Amino acid sequence: MSQVNLISAISTRKTFAIISHPDAGKTTLTEKLLLFGGAIHEAGSVKARKAERYATSDWMELERQRGISITSSALQFKYQGYVINILDTPGHQDFSEDTYRTLTAADSAVMLIDAAKGIEAQTKKLFYVCRQRGIPIFTFVNKFDREAKDPLDLMDEVEKILGIEAYAMNWPIGMGQDFKGIYDRQSGMVERFISGIGKKSSTPPVSGNLSDPNVQEGIGQELLKQLHDEIDLLDLAGNAFSQERVDRGEVTPVFFGSALNNFGVPNFLQSFLKLAPAPQPRSTNMGILAPETNSFSGFIFKIQANMNAQHRDRIAFVRICSGRYERGMNVIHTRSHRRLRLAQPQQLFAQERTILDEAYAGDIIGVHDSGLLRIGDVLTEKDGLQFETMPFFSPENFARISIANALKRKQFIKGIQELQEEGAIHVFRDLHVGVEAPIIGVVGQLQFEVLEYRLREEYGVKVEIQHLPYEIVRWVDKVERNIKLLTESSMSTVVLDKDENYAVLLLDEWKAKWLSDRYEIEFLNQPKEL
Ligand code: G4P
Repeated sequence: MSQVNLISAISTRKTFAIISHPDAGKTTLTEKLLLFGGAIHEAGSVKARKAERYATSDWMELERQRGISITSSALQFKYQGYVINILDTPGHQDFSEDTYRTLTAADSAVMLIDAAKGIEAQTKKLFYVCRQRGIPIFTFVNKFDREAKDPLDLMDEVEKILGIEAYAMNWPIGMGQDFKGIYDRQSGMVERFISGIGKKSSTPPVSGNLSDPNVQEGIGQELLKQLHDEIDLLDLAGNAFSQERVDRGEVTPVFFGSALNNFGVPNFLQSFLKLAPAPQPRSTNMGILAPETNSFSGFIFKIQANMNAQHRDRIAFVRICSGRYERGMNVIHTRSHRRLRLAQPQQLFAQERTILDEAYAGDIIGVHDSGLLRIGDVLTEKDGLQFETMPFFSPENFARISIANALKRKQFIKGIQELQEEGAIHVFRDLHVGVEAPIIGVVGQLQFEVLEYRLREEYGVKVEIQHLPYEIVRWVDKVERNIKLLTESSMSTVVLDKDENYAVLLLDEWKAKWLSDRYEIEFLNQPKEL
């Protein structure tokens, strides 16, 4: 393939993740975006699947029957000459480290906010991960068809709580029962909200210029005056728009709408496609790697096992960072220096998986894994290439896991070891207890259920889970005095991590600070050497 074609193929890619707190409307927005792309034809199909996977066990059973997971993977569709990859970052009961890691594969993020609730806990956590990576973040304030917080207050909340400047791209006219539409600050056009229209279809809303008397009449005098006042305020006192600052993640363009009514979604999508970045260069141990480099490279950000219990079928999800993938190509697995043939990489779309013939930087492919691959591994045509290491996400839930049947000890240890290597759990060892009863740390509670399920299904081991009250883990230097003091304290448990580093489990931040001040012990957020 010529360099020109490669550059042009890559420049059409937009790879992003939607970050939000559960119930803000992520499934609904994803569905509307797919509807536009013609990737689905009827609203409700994505939602139906969400409902199906509501119960953990059903969800896993379902994944097995279907043979593939759509959680935390990517959906691809084409729209107006762009190839759009939406990375799914499940929230709520699905919340886990996978969600965080998936963000490393995105070039930008869409932060979805419920207009009545404002910034919620999980949005905040996910926002900080995106912030650390410095990727552009776009904001969609959803559910303006309902009573909402004042839009100026919402902008203020984004700035104050998240510490990012907000720039309103459009502005809502009224809300709830009185929601009249949105005003586009660039074009001066008003999109009229008509309740119910657009719920099931992708019909674009009716629009007209704000100076048009018909439009003004539809809005009404009172709301029209309020709109003028608020726009004046934004023009005078608001932040200036700057594409460079958006690119650096310093300013978030803010859009208002109602995903359920399909309202404001086309307006958002058009601007997003214009403003969001194509795949960006990545830092490597060999310098900055441009996506249009003529050799293939990518890293694994997620491994999904248990596709088929009999065959230990696992799929590793690869974010392509440079070049082009071709079916059957040979790549080097840098950690083992082994050559791998990417014979049947998969692309995931909705319920089906299709075999891919080609893919480009920005795309996500699923590669069959017989147990060799790990999260963070690099597949490349250039041996020795390494990307920046995966960020470390500290576990927040802890439990002691033990086997019900001592005869299964070997399988248990193997299972725990393999799941740790996969990045599904953090394993700690109590100083006084053996490997038979490790303490497992996870980011989200659901991971315990997944662990229990997988140990039973894949390793034939039944386990007992005893939840512990700790919420944080900190690493400490192995100074005898420190270890002695922390071991004696009733507020903490001293453990060893998988690399035999000393760590301490603590009840909460406050207790951690108290202990650290009281005994003058330095607590680290992660092991010194990862
Ligand atoms: P999530 O994936 O972020 O968890 O949210 P999801 O899309 O499932 O939406 C959560 C709820 O919010 C759903 O209602 C959905 O219909 C509703 N919703 C999403 N966007 C809008 C919007 O723009 N306006 C209004 N008024 N509601 C919206 P539900 O009652 O939980 O489910 P359902 O019975 O409607 O399917």
